[in-house]
Amino acid sequence: MRFKNLLIIIFICSVGTRVAAQTWIVPDDQKAVVAPVKFTPDMQKQGEQLYSKNCQSCHGNMGKDNWAKLTPPPGDLAKDKAQKQTDGEIFYRITTGKIPMPEFRNILSEDERWSLIAFMRSFNPKYVQPNPVAKAAFTGRIVTLAMQYSDPMKKVLVTATEQLKDGQKGLASGVEVMLFVKRYFGKMQVGDIKTTNAKGEAAFEFPADLPGNKEGYVELTATVNDPKSVMMTTPANANLAIGVPTDKPSLTATRAWWSTRANAPVWILLTYTLSVLIVWGFIGYIVMSILRIKKLSKGDA
Ligand code: HEC
Repeated sequence: MRFKNLLIIIFICSVGTRVAAQTWIVPDDQKAVVAPVKFTPDMQKQGEQLYSKNCQSCHGNMGKDNWAKLTPPPGDLAKDKAQKQTDGEIFYRITTGKIPMPEFRNILSEDERWSLIAFMRSFNPKYVQPNPVAKAAFTGRIVTLAMQYSDPMKKVLVTATEQLKDGQKGLASGVEVMLFVKRYFGKMQVGDIKTTNAKGEAAFEFPADLPGNKEGYVELTATVNDPKSVMMTTPANANLAIGVPTDKPSLTATRAWWSTRANAPVWILLTYTLSVLIVWGFIGYIVMSILRIKKLSKGDA
């Protein structure tokens, strides 16, 4: 009886993940997106090249139904199922991907993604392109950061400049700046968030005891704190000799005790071996139980 319940639970779980795996919903506002330019034969040609490089291995030759046998099936992009979707829908799918299809957000530029759609549409004689709508120009602040060390102040000085409406550059005040220092694992924030003053400057006190590399260099990054993404920002990086020179072994050096087995303490080796044995023992126990159930059911017949 217990075994049957277990089977039912496994069945429900697998159906659940199946259903989740099959939905690939495109938000309505994305469906309504149209290309910013009229599709041209040049775009189609570019799209064709991009297609054979990035898509053909899975989706096959257009119109030939020879796509790779994957789950879920990629399908032929010349056929109705894909062609019935709006340009915005297809653009969204190429942009975001869905396992096993990669997301092309950072692989292909927006222009390249549109040229792929221009190429796809050339296989659909019924397709009429909706009037192009240029993407609205960015209306927020466009801020660029720079960083230097001020010896007299003993502070890291971050300067923010911004592009002004008349095309000129100006100092950006009121920008929230964060400073990070690179550590072994990821980044550590230095001090609090600072807001740039009228001169576009934010000064960070640097902790005097922060370890650097052998020569005392630390890798710093300054970024803009902009949770609502109302600015377009460029961070600043610098490698400054303001840390305490530290000759630490790297994680892969033999002195780090967890890097090689020879340096690991016995209790860690023992705990590790024991847990591996327990896991395998448990798997063995389950296999034995299943075999026993089989034997019992045969005995009944
Ligand atoms: C690794 C294999 C793979 C690659 C590479 C790949 N795709 Fe896909 N693609 C898939 C799979 C699998 C699906 C089906 C996903 C689903 O329905 O859940 C899919 C679905 C799609 C869809 C939706 C089709 C429909 O009928 O709803 C579009 C559009 C699409 N891919 C375009 C592209 C384009 C354009 C490229 C190249 C830039 C590309 N894909 C590269 C595997 C791939």
